Amino acid sequence: MEKDLINKDRQNIWHPFTPLRGQADPILIDKAKGVYLFREDGTKIMDAVSSWWVNIHGHGNEHIAKAVGQQALDMEHIIFAGFTHKQAIKLSENLLSVLPENQEKIFFSDNGSTSVEVAIKMAFQYWHNKETPKKKIIAIEGAYHGDTFGSMSVGSRGSFNIPFEPFLFDVEFIDFPTEGNKSEVLAHFQKLVGTGEIAAFIFEPLVQGSAGMRMYSVDILQELVKTANEANVVCIADEVMTGFGRTGKFFATDHLNIPPDIFCLSKGLTGGNMPMGITTVKGEIVKAFDTDDIYKTFFHGHSYTGNPIACAAANASFELTQKPEFMANIQRVSENHSRFKGEIEGHNKIKEIRQTGTIIAIELDLGTTSYMNKSRNQIYNHFLTRGILLRPLGNVLYILPPYVITDEQLNKVYGAIIEYLDELN
Ligand SMILES: Cc1ncc(COP(=O)(O)O)c(C=O)c1O
Repeated sequence: MEKDLINKDRQNIWHPFTPLRGQADPILIDKAKGVYLFREDGTKIMDAVSSWWVNIHGHGNEHIAKAVGQQALDMEHIIFAGFTHKQAIKLSENLLSVLPENQEKIFFSDNGSTSVEVAIKMAFQYWHNKETPKKKIIAIEGAYHGDTFGSMSVGSRGSFNIPFEPFLFDVEFIDFPTEGNKSEVLAHFQKLVGTGEIAAFIFEPLVQGSAGMRMYSVDILQELVKTANEANVVCIADEVMTGFGRTGKFFATDHLNIPPDIFCLSKGLTGGNMPMGITTVKGEIVKAFDTDDIYKTFFHGHSYTGNPIACAAANASFELTQKPEFMANIQRVSENHSRFKGEIEGHNKIKEIRQTGTIIAIELDLGTTSYMNKSRNQIYNHFLTRGILLRPLGNVLYILPPYVITDEQLNKVYGAIIEYLDELN
């Protein structure tokens, strides 16, 4: 039975980020609850990566499931131009209540890439509408902002987008900031914004996810945002991965004392239940679109913009984020990670271990650090056979769990990692 289904899958389905050859069969999952994914035969796999970083309250959350079910019965979807609905309005109020005060409007789309696409288009059109068009964007080397052409353009050039490189627009990349190169990076950034040609600066705050959970300091980001602000460059915080508690605060940019101008949100937004992207924008940018000139309209939208079921999931998830146990769990997971970091730091098979909030990354000493590092499959399979889903980025192993993971479950993952490290010797 399971074999038949897998055969059909292999015949019909093209999976994301997956070569068509040389891969193990996909694993059929029938049910998911809490941190576990269940196979047909009842065996379980612990989801220690929150199913591509989306799941924050655990799988099968009943509060969200009920809200989704009710909304599906009440109204599944309506056109969002010329019409609106209560769930979207409620979500706008919810998000604006936790975003910095400068944020004024929210714009809906379907995923993280589209939330970035919208942000970039808004930034370019903001300058166009002000009749001082600017053509350049600054991004950070190593960045990943999604897979549409705009979001690929502001991402690092590399293995993911070689075939598309000739079609990506030019972007100014600054080096990934470290304590060692801080002053050079800032000087380069200052020079770029000083040209007056820069429309926007886009960044993954504090943690570059796909680049291998690379982390940089609050101080450096603060300096960059401050410099951009002073030069009137629009700051776009791509909080697609870092939003909703990942880095220990509700938004990663809450660690700064200057708010960005635009936020990109997705992943944890619906608690990992429904696809949705949101771009939020500060008042001054909105103002440039608020005119009688029809040509200054933001002509962008998707068929499923503002989908009521996705909004209901996001509202139900938001309610859970407002309970005291939400931030308490984030704190607990972060503390567990710190303790574990202290325990294994210095292991001879670790190049570097780093942590920001609920994310801990272990860069293994298994050759050159890269997404394409060949040890990836071996590491992935090693943990899967032990009932743990850890999906390394090349030789970078990381844990990014749903916040409801218990101490005992975390200890099981830590224990398996220690065992693996020792086996490498
Ligand atoms: C920081 C960041 N931005 C954007 C995206 C793209 O999101 P999506 O996969 O939902 O299009 C991702 C996905 O991993 C991401 O980590």
